[in-house]
Amino acid sequence: MTTTWDFGVSHELDLVERRIRDSLASEEPLLTEIAQYVITSGGKRIRPVVTLLAFKAAGGEDIERAVDIAAALELIHSATLIHDDINDGGTERRGRPAAFLKYGLQEALVTGDFLFTRAFRIGGKFDDDIVDLTAKVCAALAEGEIRQKRHLGDVTVTRETYLDIITRKTATPVATAARVGALVGRGRAEHVDAAGEYGLNLGIAFQIVDDILDVVGDGVTLGKRPGMDIKEGNVTILSINALQDGNVSDRSELIRILRKRTKDWGEVQTALRMIRESGSVDRAREEARAFGERAVAALGALPDGEPRRKMADLVEFVLSRDT
Ligand code: IPE
Ligand code: IPE
Ligand code: MG
Ligand code: MG
Repeated sequence: MTTTWDFGVSHELDLVERRIRDSLASEEPLLTEIAQYVITSGGKRIRPVVTLLAFKAAGGEDIERAVDIAAALELIHSATLIHDDINDGGTERRGRPAAFLKYGLQEALVTGDFLFTRAFRIGGKFDDDIVDLTAKVCAALAEGEIRQKRHLGDVTVTRETYLDIITRKTATPVATAARVGALVGRGRAEHVDAAGEYGLNLGIAFQIVDDILDVVGDGVTLGKRPGMDIKEGNVTILSINALQDGNVSDRSELIRILRKRTKDWGEVQTALRMIRESGSVDRAREEARAFGERAVAALGALPDGEPRRKMADLVEFVLSRDT
C-alpha cells in the first residue's frame, strides 16, 4: 500500500514513483526483481512528501529537480529497510516477508547496496551541498544502526542515548529530506533552516510513534510484526519510561526479559504487557507530541500558504498514524 493520504502533492509523488521505478532497471533481472519487490509493496513515502512540501513552501518551481532528489532519498530509505531487517531479524516488511527471507541474505544485502548506488546516480548530479547532505544521511543511518546494536539488551540506556540513536537513524534523514527540498526550491537560508528544523522534530516524533506501534500496534495494519524491538533487544523510549518511573508490576522480571539474548514470544508478550500497563505508552505519546509541536513551531519561519499548512497536517498524521 502506497500513501493514500493527500498532502496536495499526489501528482508530484506519481512522478517520484516513476523516477524510482525507472532507476531499478539492471542487466541482472534478479536485482530488479528484489528491488521492485520491496519498493512496489508500498510504504508511506513520508520522506518524498516532506521533500516536495518543503520545496513548494520555499517557493520552488523546477519540480523535476525536487522529484529527482526525493526519489534518491526514498531509494536510500528502501535500501536501509532491506539492511535493517537483516540487522533486526525483521521478518515482515510492508505486509510481505522481508526481502532476505524471500530471496536470501546475500541477495538482499547486495540489493540494498544496488539501491544506494542507484540513489547516488540520481543524487550525484546535484550541487555539492546537496550531495554532501545526502552522503551524510547514509553515514548517520549507519551510525544509528551500529550504536543501537551496541546497546542491545542494555537496560541502562538513557533517554539521551535513545534520542541520539533515533536522530541518526530516522530524524536526520527526514531533516535532510526537508532541507534538500527547500534547497532545490532555491529557498532563502532561513527557510532552508526552518525546513530542516521541522524535519528533525518530525523525524523524532515519527520514530517515537514507530516505537509505540511496536508495543501497541496491529501487525496487519503495520505491515510488520510488532514486538520486534523487545524480541531483538532494542531499548526504546517505551522500555526506558517503564523502567525509569513506570508503574511496572515486576521490575526485575521485565529487566530479566529485556536483557536476555534470546527470548521466546511468550516472554516478549509478558514484557509488552508490563510495558503497556506501566503507563509508558501515554508518556511516549506526550513526548512524540512535544516534538510534533516543535516541528509545527519551526514552520512559523516559512512563508504562509497551502504547502506550509500541509506540512502541519503531516505532523498530525504522523502523531495519529497506526500504520
Ligand atoms: C520505517 O520507516 C523505518 C523507520 C524509520 C521507523 P517507514 O515507517 O517510513 O517505512 P515505510 O517506507 O512507510 O514502509
Ligand atoms: C529503523 O528503525 C530505522 C531505519 C533507519 C531503517 P526500526 O528498526 O524501528 O524500523 P522498523 O520498525 O524495523 O521499520
Ligand atoms: Mg527494524
Ligand atoms: Mg521499529
